[in-house]
Amino acid sequence: MATVGNGLKILLSREQIQTRIAELGAQITGDYAGKRLHLVCILKGACMFLSDLLRTLEVDTSIDFIAVSSYKNGSSTTGEVQLTKDLDFPLDKREVLIVEDIVDTGLTLSYLKDLLASRHPNSLKIVTLLDKPSRRIQPIEVDYIGFEIPDAFVVGYGLDYAERYRQLPHICVVETAAGLLK
Ligand code: IMP
Ligand code: MG
Repeated sequence: MATVGNGLKILLSREQIQTRIAELGAQITGDYAGKRLHLVCILKGACMFLSDLLRTLEVDTSIDFIAVSSYKNGSSTTGEVQLTKDLDFPLDKREVLIVEDIVDTGLTLSYLKDLLASRHPNSLKIVTLLDKPSRRIQPIEVDYIGFEIPDAFVVGYGLDYAERYRQLPHICVVETAAGLLK
């Protein structure tokens, strides 16, 4: 693995990420052909993924943002999910696609899927760039997955560790004296 300094090692390079997003975009474009797609981005981690995915879509789209907090300043979950910013638009009769950066325990998406389903969309699917299936607590069906990754904490490409590293163009693991951060 290549190093980008400060104990950060590249797990997925900028090129790998962009290639995979183009594939996902083509698949989603095909699945929603002739329809209007409403993308719901989960702030803040999924913002880069949303903006790159959006540019690969060749269907009519609209976007909205929602924010939840499930992590307290670090890499371990509190198990609680709190809505910190709601959507601007109603979802009824829309084809809704939730855009997430990473599915870890599944608690965030389970909470959000139930919440958004209660608003009567015509359809409700999920796309995530990253999936850590080994960490799942709450089972959740994810429709589109960019990459399955091992059980390590990752930063970059929108993902943070205590709000740092979001600007990196790659997805990196964090190496500490005690080994990889989990
Ligand atoms: P879950 O509720 O445990 O599935 O966690 C989902 C959220 O936790 C994601 O939207 C991320 O914001 C955050 N998260 C989980 N794993 C990581 C990671 O490895 N790096 C950065 N953020 C993570
Ligand atoms: Mg997130």
